[in-house]
Amino acid sequence: MAEEIIVPDGVSKTDKYEVLILQLRSLVESEADTIANMANISAVLKEIFGFFWVGFYIVKDEQLVLGPFQGPVACTRIRYGKGVCGTAWKEQRAIIVPDVDEFPGHIACSSLSRSEIVVPVFHHGKVVAVLDVDSEFLNYFNETDEKYLSEIAELIKF
Ligand code: SME
Repeated sequence: MAEEIIVPDGVSKTDKYEVLILQLRSLVESEADTIANMANISAVLKEIFGFFWVGFYIVKDEQLVLGPFQGPVACTRIRYGKGVCGTAWKEQRAIIVPDVDEFPGHIACSSLSRSEIVVPVFHHGKVVAVLDVDSEFLNYFNETDEKYLSEIAELIKF
């Protein structure tokens, strides 16, 4: 079924997320395939917010492996505890990085990325993937993004 996500212009970030999450929920609940849902979530976030890069890394064989994403070509594998993604996996928590140059061990897939947020995707209490969003602007993400991106991560069923 063709789906179009509609979010009004000129509303706050919170309002955008509120409208978006309702529509994402119905989009994801009507499809059982995890990869398909990750792909559509990436596409919607990129389209609505214009993020530089948005996508998923999936835990496979004790590494994070690149999953569905929107944006420039990215690193394909990240080790446990490495970079922002590997740290979010290890520490099982969301991480907001206002300036990637200030994050020890940040993995630069693109020199254009300046700030970043990573939220874990859990299944039975274990991190099974992470949702990673990059911006070309410094200090772009805050607690509002953490709250709603975490809710979006909860929509993913493994
Ligand atoms: N910067 C991430 C790597 C993934 S890319 O940003 C798409 C990190 O440090 O884990």
